[in-house]
Amino acid sequence: MDIFEKLLKHLGPIGEHSDRAHGYFAFPKLEGEIGPRMKFRGNEKIVWSLNNYLGLANHPEVRATDAQAAADYGMASPMGARMMSGNTNYHEQLENELSDYMGKEATTLLNYGYQGIMSAIDAVVGRRDVIVYDAECHASILDGLRLHPGKRYVFKHNDMEDFDKQMKRATELAKTQGGGILVVTEGVFGMAGDQGKLKEIAAFKDKYEFRLLVDDAHGFGTMGKTGAGTGEEQGVQDKIDLLFNTFAKSGASIGAFISGEKAIINYLRYNMRSQIFAKSIPLPIVIGHLKRVQLMRQHPEMKAKLWDNVNKLQNGLKARGFNIGRTNSPVTPIYLHGDIPEATAMCLDLRENYNIFCSIVVYPVIPKGQIIYRLIPTAAHSDEDIELTLKAFSETKAKLDEKVYQVAEIPMV
Ligand SMILES: Cc1ncc(COP(=O)(O)O)c(C=O)c1O
Repeated sequence: MDIFEKLLKHLGPIGEHSDRAHGYFAFPKLEGEIGPRMKFRGNEKIVWSLNNYLGLANHPEVRATDAQAAADYGMASPMGARMMSGNTNYHEQLENELSDYMGKEATTLLNYGYQGIMSAIDAVVGRRDVIVYDAECHASILDGLRLHPGKRYVFKHNDMEDFDKQMKRATELAKTQGGGILVVTEGVFGMAGDQGKLKEIAAFKDKYEFRLLVDDAHGFGTMGKTGAGTGEEQGVQDKIDLLFNTFAKSGASIGAFISGEKAIINYLRYNMRSQIFAKSIPLPIVIGHLKRVQLMRQHPEMKAKLWDNVNKLQNGLKARGFNIGRTNSPVTPIYLHGDIPEATAMCLDLRENYNIFCSIVVYPVIPKGQIIYRLIPTAAHSDEDIELTLKAFSETKAKLDEKVYQVAEIPMV
């Protein structure tokens, strides 16, 4: 049998809709400078889909630094993996500044967050070790778990009673096997926007022996007094043994980093396969990161503006009777009821007639009959953006409730 045959029979849960969705719901092209207003198929939309939390993507100093660094060094430099020929003073300077910002002894850069966290998990655990992780962890963590040859226990999302139960099982197993325990959770969960229970988990260190890895992709720059993240927000930054962050969100760039004790980070530096066997981050990106970190630390008003907008959007939605679930971060989900045809028709109405561009999640990602819109407010959004969006959601929800929406016909361009 031709192995490709099955790929064409089963296109995957999202791929199955690709003939209708491609270019519109999937792989849409947003054009223009990154910000709250961008063009989609020629028309301006208010965009709520980008994790450009602090508005850094189009900050004039960021743009100037990126351009100058690209002109100075080109995109190739340095060539090779960090360990071989791809290290520079700038890479090390960035690591030192990030360690200082995160309140950790050391940091190592990761060329991509996804592969980086997978490799970090892979490097830490061996077959005798046990991983205990939150059920709603990101795909990159789940793929990291798939590399683990030993046992893993999942606890119900943010459920500390279940965490206790799983930790008991894990502790017994680790003891008999002569291994240790790695607990993995997130600072801010990217779909629902609720914070991981870092404080509660950290308190379990009195009861069980384990090390804690936190993925704070959405918390970096947005949470805590200085933007150092959810650990800072909850007062337990020092209890996080390995702190993973990405530049793909607040940092408005690409690449990531992991911080912790000096000896452990040094171990990771020499043992994370996705870093040892892959090219290091290009210099212009590293220099761009230095500028972003400097701006994050020196301009707390960016985070203040973000939260101002978060509160306006979330309070406005709540006041209009929307269910935004359990978010306590900038991530703003809107939970509605409806089937896929209604959901796509509503999304289309929002996009075409109200000029609101936001992400939508439906079955099979979530159970049938549910619709989740996910809005990401940023520091760059204006009061007008928020007002227009609240009005659009009120009107379209009324239509959804009145069963106005039927089958969505995507307009031809
Ligand atoms: C929670 C979480 N972890 C890890 C990643 C992967 O990071 P990157 O985009 O830097 O590869 C993402 C997505 O960006 C994420 O949302």
